[in-house]
Amino acid sequence: MTEAILLVGGKGTRLRPLTVHTPKPMVPAAGVPFLTHQLARAKAAGVEHIVLATSYLAEVFEPYFGDGSALGLHLEYVTEEEPLGTGGAIRNVASRLHSGPQDPVLVFNGDILTGLDIRKLVHTHETAGADVSLHLTRVTDPRAYGLVPTDATGRVQAFLEKPQTPEEIVTDQINAGAYVFRRSVIDTIPAGRPVSVERETFPDLLAAGAHLQGMVDSTYWLDLGTPRAFVRGSADLVLGRAPSPAVPGRCGDRLVLPSASVADDAKLTGGTVIGEHAVIGAGARISGSAVLAGAVVEPGAVVTDSLVGAGAQVGARAVLDGVVVGDRAAVGPDNELREGVRVWCEARIPAGAVRFSSDQ
Ligand code: GDD
Ligand code: MG
Repeated sequence: MTEAILLVGGKGTRLRPLTVHTPKPMVPAAGVPFLTHQLARAKAAGVEHIVLATSYLAEVFEPYFGDGSALGLHLEYVTEEEPLGTGGAIRNVASRLHSGPQDPVLVFNGDILTGLDIRKLVHTHETAGADVSLHLTRVTDPRAYGLVPTDATGRVQAFLEKPQTPEEIVTDQINAGAYVFRRSVIDTIPAGRPVSVERETFPDLLAAGAHLQGMVDSTYWLDLGTPRAFVRGSADLVLGRAPSPAVPGRCGDRLVLPSASVADDAKLTGGTVIGEHAVIGAGARISGSAVLAGAVVEPGAVVTDSLVGAGAQVGARAVLDGVVVGDRAAVGPDNELREGVRVWCEARIPAGAVRFSSDQ
């Protein structure tokens, strides 16, 4: 098995205020653009040729990854003029595949961090003789996902994307966003119009009696669609909980890129990553957070489970917990920002302007 399609288009807007010119897959996680982890994992599983199906800010992918040779891959890029949806995007790149009609082709959502055993998914697909095989995972609240009930042999019985009513929540097994398609099935997706693989292709295939096989496991799995999840994923990569051959350094409590400057008594824990040329001041305490390139965290600041954007500034003694600071934004000294606050790119919060705790 040698080929894969990576879906990195669509609206993709959820991290946008933080990274105006950077599509989500290119935001650094554990020091490298997130997509690098998916590409490196595919490569490690024996994939050689990957087509990136993009539509949103597509022009940033190719200058960074080029022909893929730095990763030992052959990469191609296809840009949709208008987003074609997940199924339309897959169909749109079919002409770039070299596989024969019966060969397995991997397809990945571009925002998933997972320990999926890719070879095992392909093996399951081939053993079952399936038309499409889907990686499934279990979650406590499946409403934001595609529900995939299976029978005792793992054969898919239904595909219910983003169930609306309690009656529709028939299982805690969800589509984990990685598939193996029999190549010939890709060619049956209608061309030239938007198609959702989740809402149209999978239900139609099931209705027509096609064999969709599920492989459920309990490996690491996270959809990085929200900033909160993105920060978690970055920390898990640094900690080694989420396996990736692309983490630039040894896994552990922290990852400090070589050009960063960290004061001797700053404390970095919980999978914190400090990006290139970032500066961390004396006595700062940073836990479970991602500090992107060129950001400055001043002395005594306490940053927990937060994302500090490229070139942003966190003032002295500021407290951030569960916060996203956009690129080049500045949080002045002595502010206290908590759970869910998102500071827009380039915004400036004056010293001591915001606090959550009672007045002192
Ligand atoms: N090229 C292209 N064009 N890619 C697209 C398009 C498009 O029009 N629309 C979406 N994508 C890509 C996204 O970039 C993402 O990588 C992937 O397809 C899935 O789209 P999301 O918008 O992230 O979907 P979701 O997270 O709400 O739901 C999907 O993922 C869940 C798992 O995280 C579905 O596949 C669910 O069934 C699944 O459970
Ligand atoms: Mg998603």
